[in-house]
Amino acid sequence: MNHGRRDTPHTPDDQGTAADSHTALRLEAVRKVYRLGDDDVVALHHADLRVGADEIVALVGPSGSGKTTLCSIAGAILSPTAGRVVVGEQDITEFGESELSRVRRESVGFVFQAVNLVPFLTARENLLVIDELGSRNRSAARARADQLLDELGLADRASNLPSQLSGGQRQRVAIGRALMNEPSLVLFDEPTSALDTQLGEKVMELIRHEMKARGTAAVIVTHDERMTHYADRVVHITDGVLAA
Ligand SMILES: Nc1ncnc2c1ncn2[C@@H]1O[C@H](COP(=O)(O)OP(=O)(O)OP(=O)(O)O)[C@@H](O)[C@H]1O
Ligand SMILES: [Mg+2]
Repeated sequence: MNHGRRDTPHTPDDQGTAADSHTALRLEAVRKVYRLGDDDVVALHHADLRVGADEIVALVGPSGSGKTTLCSIAGAILSPTAGRVVVGEQDITEFGESELSRVRRESVGFVFQAVNLVPFLTARENLLVIDELGSRNRSAARARADQLLDELGLADRASNLPSQLSGGQRQRVAIGRALMNEPSLVLFDEPTSALDTQLGEKVMELIRHEMKARGTAAVIVTHDERMTHYADRVVHITDGVLAA
């Protein structure tokens, strides 16, 4: 537990560059404006954020403050209206759709609030779906899926359908799916909001454990302050403006 800022030290030769191996995510002056009929909705005003290569950042803010928008931009799902987005060592700001989909496939994992498992596939198959897009052969993919399910305490549930799992178990399948392709950054959009407090804390503990064991960075969106002590650092967002 550590609320303080934990900047990873820079080596002299990477100072000043936007992309470096100590950074999982960098947003520079990111702005996002949605067009809604005749109106412009400014979801992000001027977001600056750096997430270290093994850092867990909690992103906390009220409904409508821009949290999902920020995650979608960080995860190469949405393009910013202005500003710069660097994921790992790649500046993705100018990337086209095919390059963005490669970033989504190779570099980032997503765990959404609505767990989004494919209902007619088993837990194991839900993990393997991710790999269909990847480069591993089938047996290596299956071994990885089974290893992840085992680590997440789901070894005996691998052949269950989502409807045969509890809420917490489904959330763990979603976490396993996000880790399938060994991303350097995982974005969690309110991973515990559908769970009761006790289960929510268990899932947060698991997320922290999995991220730290792998040296993977994470942004965890929550509006539950109780969940923030599982992060290394808390960033608040209000009306599209970030504050440490
Ligand atoms: N596709 C869209 N078109 C127009 N406006 C949008 C769109 N998506 C989001 N918004 C608006 O942008 C703002 C930020 O939305 P966002 O979904 O990022 O908020 P949030 O912090 O994730 O909220 P919540 O906690 O309710 O999930 C809100 O005012 C929302 O209404
Ligand atoms: Mg949201």
